[in-house]
Amino acid sequence: MKNGKLRVAVVGLRFGADFVPIWCKHPDVYAVDIVDVKASCLQKVLEDNHGINKAYLSLDEALKDDGIDAVHLVTPIPLHAKQTLQVLRSGKHCACTVPAACTLEELSEIVATQRDTGKNYMMMETAAYTFQMLHVEKMYKAGEIGRIQLLRGCHYQDMENWPSYWNGLPPMHYATHAIAPLLKLANARPTEVVCFGSGTMREELQKPYGNPFPAETALFKLENTAAVVELTRTLFETARVYCEGFGVYGSKTSFEWFFNDHSVFERFADEPDDGIVHWGRSCKMEKAESFPDTGDRLPPEIAGFTRTCGHLGSHPHLIHEFVRSILEGRPAAIDAVKAAQWTAAGICAHESAMKDGARIPIPSFE
Ligand SMILES: NC(=O)c1ccc[n+]([C@@H]2O[C@H](COP(=O)([O-])OP(=O)(O)OC[C@H]3O[C@@H](n4cnc5c(N)ncnc54)[C@H](O)[C@@H]3O)[C@@H](O)[C@H]2O)c1
Repeated sequence: MKNGKLRVAVVGLRFGADFVPIWCKHPDVYAVDIVDVKASCLQKVLEDNHGINKAYLSLDEALKDDGIDAVHLVTPIPLHAKQTLQVLRSGKHCACTVPAACTLEELSEIVATQRDTGKNYMMMETAAYTFQMLHVEKMYKAGEIGRIQLLRGCHYQDMENWPSYWNGLPPMHYATHAIAPLLKLANARPTEVVCFGSGTMREELQKPYGNPFPAETALFKLENTAAVVELTRTLFETARVYCEGFGVYGSKTSFEWFFNDHSVFERFADEPDDGIVHWGRSCKMEKAESFPDTGDRLPPEIAGFTRTCGHLGSHPHLIHEFVRSILEGRPAAIDAVKAAQWTAAGICAHESAMKDGARIPIPSFE
């Protein structure tokens, strides 16, 4: 750290490259290093001329540098747990893209290692900071949603021809985009799940993970909350336009966002003053045309990135929250325990699907 500012390394420069310009502009960051095993990926980011401090061809090499305070991992899924543990054990703070890990054992090790090292950890879940999510969260906190009666989430995406580690991945092993907004909104951990695998997939896709399902659909119970979460994921051989969406059904207002830009609020209509007892209450639907920008919650140097980054304004929020958690000496909003709970929800859901819908408890990691 220098003059209260951080030096950060971004590791994995395909999706990770999107975060580099934001890191470089953050007012609490004085230097940004980059790491990738491919020289061509380093070169491309260097050519973008953001003012990169140093470039490394391996994480091992970067971690030997005592000047680096924090590392942001944006590497392939099978590396997340191993590299997170490596970063924390090297005495550096660690942010990691989703999912936090692939097994419950890895998640427990991350939680224990974060506690032992005292370094900050944050899972960089974009779905927790979209325009839609932040707006609905604000409404909920202001009492406009009322009691949450039901939560629904989905993530439909076709992963044909993506890097090989995606081939045949159990859909619920990558469920954090779908479940994160719901758990964040309810501020509750998932306690148990029942899930069914759905559909069939060509044999070649079943081999890598022993997963026969192109789609999975689950119900989760939450702690201290009467509402249930209903969640669906598709990954292969299912013709559906890309969609990450969620619905919250409240006693006062409901919100549904399941068709890309199409989202609606629904509210009970005023009862007609006609002296007649009507069966059922009618609702009116209001299309949500746009959502307020969220840049005003960020330092001016990075506020504009909400409108230019991917994933609906979320990237600068993730960086800012991780940075401020370190500098303020507090856990990040999606700390190791929360990351483990959100990731474990999907891992346990797939276990349930493999056991034909058996009820599976989800560890608390607390
Ligand atoms: N919305 C989101 O939050 C979101 C969106 C896209 C991807 N992701 C996650 O981000 C991660 C990366 O996605 P991607 O599409 O860029 O993946 P990718 O596999 O296409 O690219 C990963 C990059 O990491 C580099 N790399 C591989 N092994 C490395 C190592 N040992 N050390 C350093 N660098 C290494 C590769 O050369 C490559 O540049 C994935 O885990 C994915 O789950 C999250």
